[in-house]
Amino acid sequence: MVNMKKLLTALAISSAVMVAPVASNAADAGANSVEEGKKLAYSRAKGNCLACHAAGEGAMAGNIGPTLIAMKLRYPDRQKLFDKLWGTPETRNVPNSMMPAFGAHGILTDEEIDKIVDYLLTL
Ligand code: HEC
Repeated sequence: MVNMKKLLTALAISSAVMVAPVASNAADAGANSVEEGKKLAYSRAKGNCLACHAAGEGAMAGNIGPTLIAMKLRYPDRQKLFDKLWGTPETRNVPNSMMPAFGAHGILTDEEIDKIVDYLLTL
């Protein structure tokens, strides 16, 4: 009977451990966000960033805009990168830039821009 108690305790502990994956799900969401952001960035119908920028392993990239590289180093403030893509008046500081204001002009949702930023910060 004592052994049975031990067994039940062990079962209780292992089922408590089973609840733990909530944390690793959050990590998965981060990885998914990067993957989705990459798809959005490369998609011709969404970000279409490759039309103008070389980025990661994106094929047939254009060279109208600068290569998107070392993003974490160049944008330690994530919000600045988000704002550049969104196109706030302060970040549209390059006169006559060909860069579309993805948020301001309703091309991408804030959520989509967020995912693209997650992806860009891996470059
Ligand atoms: C029609 C061409 C065009 C498209 C499409 C475009 N960009 Fe740009 N982008 C530019 C140009 C030109 C610049 C340089 C002038 C400026 O900063 O606005 C630029 C600048 C940038 C910058 C700031 C410069 C740097 O290297 O930090 C970032 C970040 C950026 N683009 C990201 C993106 C992302 C991400 C996408 C897709 C969601 C995208 N761009 C789509 C033309 C484009």
